[in-house]
Amino acid sequence: MGPRVTTRPKSRARTGDALPWRLDCHMPAGADAVATDELRRALTARRPWIPPRWFYDDAGCALFVRITGLAAYYQTRTEQALLDAAMDDIVATHRPAELVEVGSGTAQKTRAILDAMERAGSLTRYLPFDISPGAVAVSAADISAAYPGTRVHGVAGDFSRHLARIPRCPAGTRRMVAFLGGTIGNLGPSRRRTLVRRLARLLKPGDSLVMGTDLAHDPRVLVRAYDDPEGVTAAFSRNMIHHVNAAFAGNADPDAFAHVALWNARASRVEMHLRARRDITWNLAGLGIVVPVEAGATIRTEISCKFTRGSVEALYADAGLALDSWHEDPLSRYAVSVATPA
Ligand code: SAH
Ligand code: AVI
Repeated sequence: MGPRVTTRPKSRARTGDALPWRLDCHMPAGADAVATDELRRALTARRPWIPPRWFYDDAGCALFVRITGLAAYYQTRTEQALLDAAMDDIVATHRPAELVEVGSGTAQKTRAILDAMERAGSLTRYLPFDISPGAVAVSAADISAAYPGTRVHGVAGDFSRHLARIPRCPAGTRRMVAFLGGTIGNLGPSRRRTLVRRLARLLKPGDSLVMGTDLAHDPRVLVRAYDDPEGVTAAFSRNMIHHVNAAFAGNADPDAFAHVALWNARASRVEMHLRARRDITWNLAGLGIVVPVEAGATIRTEISCKFTRGSVEALYADAGLALDSWHEDPLSRYAVSVATPA
């Protein structure tokens, strides 16, 4: 069991007023044994890879925010437009009083959901959940300031381990769980089935899940979204080397790797790789491993799976959920779907 730290904004804590927001942190302050073992196994696999959590140090979170504004990265603006258009109807149907958001990041698109709940007069509580304690603290403070009267309870944790630590929903209150951005696509088939089953456990009859999924379409458009001309996604991928170096006293030069994005049609996913420009001996003293990377060899930094309506429905059915509504853009590039306990 990881440490649990509760943080409260100091000025309000001193005065003893009702607290505007709180943060429970389940992420260890130092080395995280589970994440460390996972990384060691990934880097020593026959085909080395780095788990997605290693994108999201402070620099990686900032680079992701830049990606969301890129012309080539259509996903964020498309999801925003879908939420803006559909949330009033979705809220009218499901009447949620609280919103749990998994992988909440900066919680920008969340506002479309919170605004719809506020317009419906049902919004009481927002619970952002993310692996980055800094991101949860900043978004909790921002949302608390923007929606006075709404309780904000942030939880910093790993969605593969800590979802059960999310505070219970009060009896008689309907909950909506949001999992936006297409983050489900960053998990392979087995991990994403497990995660959706865990998300389903956060729901009782009457509750709902809103999920964003990127759809399989033109591979040229998809690959460009992960290899933008500005080079921001390349920097995001290389930043993983910085992050791992910093965590485990590593010596690899991020610039010794070239960024590669490709479409894997068989697995319906975009993959990002770092290809060694020369022979590299990556010494990770803190992990107790040396990773030899020959010139031309690659380390996979991401999979981003692309879905169809059928594959999303199957994912829900596996978790005991039923598709309630499906909202996709006119170019069929991205979908927001709503599911409920079957
Ligand atoms: N929902 C936001 C952010 C998407 S980026 C959006 O749509 O723009 C993916 C988010 O998932 C990041 O904020 C990252 O910190 C978080 N994340 C990645 N792995 C995680 C994990 N294992 N547990 C919890 N959060 C995770
Ligand atoms: C967070 N996740 C859904 C993004 C994606 O599109 O797979 C991460 C990302 N990688 C490169 N660009 C954005």
